[in-house]
Amino acid sequence: MKPSLPQVARIVQIVDESPRVRTLVFDLSMAADPGQFVMAWLPGVDEKPFSLMRAQPVTLTIARVGPFSSAVHRLGVGDRLWLRGPLGQPFILPPIEAGQPPAGGTNGEALLLVAGGCGVAPLHFLAERARAQGWEVWVVIGAQTAADVILANRFAALGAQVRIATEDGSRGEQGLATDAAERLLHSTRFRMVYACGPEPMLEAVEGLAQRYRLPAQLSYERYMRCGFGVCGSCSRDGWLVCRDGPVRQVEIQREER
Ligand SMILES: Cc1cc2nc3c(=O)[nH]c(=O)nc-3n(C[C@H](O)[C@H](O)[C@H](O)COP(=O)(O)OP(=O)(O)OC[C@H]3O[C@@H](n4cnc5c(N)ncnc54)[C@H](O)[C@@H]3O)c2cc1C
Ligand code: FES
Repeated sequence: MKPSLPQVARIVQIVDESPRVRTLVFDLSMAADPGQFVMAWLPGVDEKPFSLMRAQPVTLTIARVGPFSSAVHRLGVGDRLWLRGPLGQPFILPPIEAGQPPAGGTNGEALLLVAGGCGVAPLHFLAERARAQGWEVWVVIGAQTAADVILANRFAALGAQVRIATEDGSRGEQGLATDAAERLLHSTRFRMVYACGPEPMLEAVEGLAQRYRLPAQLSYERYMRCGFGVCGSCSRDGWLVCRDGPVRQVEIQREER
């Protein structure tokens, strides 16, 4: 991955998704695929990675958790951030087999997307691309409480089937996103499972993928500095999340069920 220079981007719209999460739309577009990320730099503060929620125009969904994200939340329309990217390996949609209906209809197979926390952002980008190709998309959004559920209406507007799981049961099914995902795996035939969220959730999704003999694509987060494979700070046992990921392909021999 070649390093790219930061491009200045001005905020043109801010949407509050929850008390802690907002979506920023910029006056910048880039050629990018779902799952890729940008390094966002605020001079004098820090530079941190964020998944693209959309690339045209660049749109980021940012949770306020610490110093950098709080500084971004203090920005208003017209303020600037500097963005490097797109970076990293994207999610890949399965090839559409010959003879299947064209984009716009459904091609008869479904994709399962499992999102936790801000993992909904890249999966929204993926859902948009997948729907445009005619895939039936099911998404499970996991959150602690109803107030933490984000982007559900946006997925529904894309024509995706949305399931919500909250740990306290205040919205949707009570329990973890992976519990709700397992119920869907019992009842619906899927071609691929995609997930982005906390690492224990990714491990559980990998376990489900093994059990249901489905290939999976999992997107990881790690602390990053360079964003393109030089500093080593994002290593997972030598696998660099910024360069080799953030999406990891889990291949599984498929069996007809
Ligand atoms: C490839 C990649 C894509 C990312 N995409 C997004 C994205 O789309 N949206 C987004 O908001 N963040 C995303 N992140 C995380 C983001 O880069 C920062 O880590 C995050 O904004 C925290 O930075 P901070 O300086 O505000 O807080 P920090 O000082 O880094 O963290 C403050 C505290 O919050 C905890 N924390 C860090 N991140 C989270 C989190 N996501 N949820 C709950 N607690 C957390 C930390 O453990 C720490 O205790 C992504 C990270 C990677 C590697
Ligand atoms: S962030 Fe530097 S190697 Fe990944």
